[in-house]
Amino acid sequence: MSGRLTLSWVNKDKALVPTDDGSYQWVERDDPRVTEVRLLQQRERVGDVTDGPEDNLLIRGDSYDALHALARTPEYAARYRGKVNLVYIDPPFNTNQAFEDYEDSLEHSVWLGMMRERLLLVRDLLADGGSVWVHLDDAEVAYCRVLMDEIFGRANFIATVVWKRRNDPRNTATHISADHDFILCYAKELGSTKFQHLPRTEAMDSAYVNPDGDLRGPWRRGDLAARNFYSKGLYPVTTPSGRLIAGPPSGSYWRVSEDELKRLDADGRIYWGPDGSSRPYLKRYLSEVKGGRVPSSVWHPEEVGFVRNGKEEVRALVGDVFATPKPERLLERVIQIATRPGDVVLDCFAGSGTTGAVAQKLNRKWVLVEASSLTVEKFTKPRLEKVVCGEDKGGVTKDVSWDGGGGFRVLEIGPSLYERFGSRLLLADWAKGEEFSRAVAAQLRFAYKADGPFCGSKGRTRLAVIDGVADDVVVRSVVSHLEEEERVTIVAKGASPEAAETLAWVSKGSRLLKAPADLTRSGRVVR
Ligand SMILES: C[S@@+](CC[C@H](N)C(=O)[O-])C[C@H]1O[C@@H](n2cnc3c(N)ncnc32)[C@H](O)[C@@H]1O
Repeated sequence: MSGRLTLSWVNKDKALVPTDDGSYQWVERDDPRVTEVRLLQQRERVGDVTDGPEDNLLIRGDSYDALHALARTPEYAARYRGKVNLVYIDPPFNTNQAFEDYEDSLEHSVWLGMMRERLLLVRDLLADGGSVWVHLDDAEVAYCRVLMDEIFGRANFIATVVWKRRNDPRNTATHISADHDFILCYAKELGSTKFQHLPRTEAMDSAYVNPDGDLRGPWRRGDLAARNFYSKGLYPVTTPSGRLIAGPPSGSYWRVSEDELKRLDADGRIYWGPDGSSRPYLKRYLSEVKGGRVPSSVWHPEEVGFVRNGKEEVRALVGDVFATPKPERLLERVIQIATRPGDVVLDCFAGSGTTGAVAQKLNRKWVLVEASSLTVEKFTKPRLEKVVCGEDKGGVTKDVSWDGGGGFRVLEIGPSLYERFGSRLLLADWAKGEEFSRAVAAQLRFAYKADGPFCGSKGRTRLAVIDGVADDVVVRSVVSHLEEEERVTIVAKGASPEAAETLAWVSKGSRLLKAPADLTRSGRVVR
């Protein structure tokens, strides 16, 4: 024991795989269903897309498989690993309810295990200056806070935001009406994280007035006396009306020296009251106020939306009610604080797609993952289609002057490379030809690129995938295509007895692997 505080739960040393009923099953951490990197298969293109790495992605499938693929498949890892600026997730809160669109009643340890696996991958994907925001209610927030301390480090905790989501307490509550949610916010690396200030509000600006018609515009009185000791801060002043003031108010010091006060006064920056006889105040001009508003940890529904706003926004767009959508203004607030235009935003519990819709309207790049195909078809995809087509007139559209543009690709988590027969693991029927090569490349972290007998390279090592048996002739033929100093990893469905020996002889340092047995020990998540 290192003495570190950690949260423990039943089966914490195990991993989870999703089951068909929306729940999860505990398995060993090196189970191929956990270590396998699934391929992301393209299903649709919506709006303007380039098929390049910059495209926004809507991924249908389990968030673990999706995050794993984004972090481990070289093509996606180059774009996303260590490069995601904001992760906002609104996972099932574990409130022990069955919503129409998804189940929300996992066994406590299963919920924690499920979150742990995904947050570990989120950490890998976040940029050093990035942040993760986890939206929860009282059911799991305390446990998730400790879990996130463990994963991201206590030192990287930023704040627990409280979103007051309703102003009409439920009178039917047994004891106390819970009217707020929490959003736990952690930095990947606090020292590198810079949040944006929020735009100033009209109320803030209205504190600035211009009773004396100052040409610099509206201003606000700034106190020139403070309690902090200042060696040059005790001196008498004479007001423009001729009144002598012996010094600053008792127990305080002028904030500026006598010379500086004279300079400011000559520049018209000192206010002496309406008749020129009060003690001096500094004029702070609105035109010189830098930056906006530092975000606070309490968010009011009048500013960021009520629960009902989220539902209305989705219903207005797709004509159906999603159980738990968040209001667009809430996501606008998160995205404004944590990112700049062009940054990458990820939400792997996408639901109706609020995060993607708002990210698009604010000119951020996004990746959404949603496990329920029904939800994707009924809510997420149609909503995002309307956003890019400029047909979404609700939410934050008007405030940010959005009128459509851009696009996204719809991807799906590919099927497993393996099939189980009792305790035996075999290759799935579909594992043939190019698809087989692509899947093998992903497991071994080679970027897929067909080139003669090869289908990928990593440094000076090439990958050759043989959809059959590798024998002496095959091995020699593959090696004959290598450049000097190149090595090859050959993966075959079978190998003749002498093939490995031949390979070692003709290309020292190259290796021969058999699928599936030699693949299942690769691609393990670093825990
Ligand atoms: C609370 S809702 C998210 C609502 C969303 N923030 C919105 O504004 O619409 C949680 C979503 O997570 C999805 N989900 C649950 N488990 C998942 C998993 N393992 N992978 C991906 N999505 C999952 C559910 O289907 C549900 O749509």
